[in-house]
Amino acid sequence: MMTHHENNSVLKRLVGKSKTIREVKKFINLAARYDYPIIISGETGVGKTLLAQLIHSVSMRKERPFLHQSCSNIPSELFESELFGHEKGAFTGAIEKKKGKIEIADGGTLFLDEISDLSLQNQAKTLLFIDRGKFFRVGGTEEIKTDVRIIAASNRDLKKEVKSGRFREDLYFRLNTLDIHIPPLRDRKEDIPLLAGEILRRENERNKMKKSISSEAINKLLNYDFPGNVRELENICKRAILYSKGNEIKENDVFFEREVTSRKRKKLTYSQVKKTLQKHKSNISKTARSLGISRQYLYKILKQKKV
Ligand SMILES: Nc1ncnc2c1ncn2[C@@H]1O[C@H](COP(=O)(O)OP(=O)(O)OP(=O)(O)O)[C@@H](O)[C@H]1O
Ligand SMILES: [Mg+2]
Repeated sequence: MMTHHENNSVLKRLVGKSKTIREVKKFINLAARYDYPIIISGETGVGKTLLAQLIHSVSMRKERPFLHQSCSNIPSELFESELFGHEKGAFTGAIEKKKGKIEIADGGTLFLDEISDLSLQNQAKTLLFIDRGKFFRVGGTEEIKTDVRIIAASNRDLKKEVKSGRFREDLYFRLNTLDIHIPPLRDRKEDIPLLAGEILRRENERNKMKKSISSEAINKLLNYDFPGNVRELENICKRAILYSKGNEIKENDVFFEREVTSRKRKKLTYSQVKKTLQKHKSNISKTARSLGISRQYLYKILKQKKV
């Protein structure tokens, strides 16, 4: 395991001061000490993959590989051969023997991303492996032993998936010894300024620049709901850097690709939009930007009045 000092420097990569982030840090320490499977849940872009990597890099498995396997948009048979590998001639196209990820990750960690998308059949195979620590390559007759820690992630609520019969309860119970939910960024807005600052610091270093961000721009970020969470914040900040003239990011350099959420959407009336449009001399892009909405959504509001 890592020394305290090393541990702290890894934890620094997780930015934020909210209760959530403090709890996530505690969870990492726990997950580093106890070698159990893990489930991480949360919306897209909240930091599930980052958390999985951090856990691995402070765990006793850190010197061994960390492998990533997506469970969505992958045909069942391909998933199987990716995970368990295959023998030469196991199926058409299997011209060579191939090691699967759980064999390569021996001693390390396998990150199963979007586990709720796994077919029931592959859920059964995964469960069998977790139970026995042994598996067969596709087309293989020899049982192979491997020691891999599973970290699973899901956008969906796995408990609900279990209730509706889409996810095996036994697999769920096998995985959820250590489980954590990362709430969306809009529920921990105090992290936004820190994250924006960290993103800016990183991008400044990368582009050899010294841009800062105005408090008005920060306020605008604080009023947005971030359906794409931290990933979306990163994109918005990078774009704001790109659009800003001078060395300071202004309010108008910050704009949102996605529509604002329904809560904010309701507040925007046709007349408000019309007024802002006039102020910007009918310039759609400028109007949308200053309202913090997408151009598509702006058109939608304008159209609504016409009918
Ligand atoms: N607390 C945080 N501190 C610093 N960076 C963060 C934090 N949370 C997320 N990020 C960054 O935000 C981006 C999105 O995070 P990540 O890819 O881990 O999300 P995810 O939950 O795995 O998303 P998806 O469900 O789409 O796979 C990454 O670049 C990640 O490094
Ligand atoms: Mg991810």
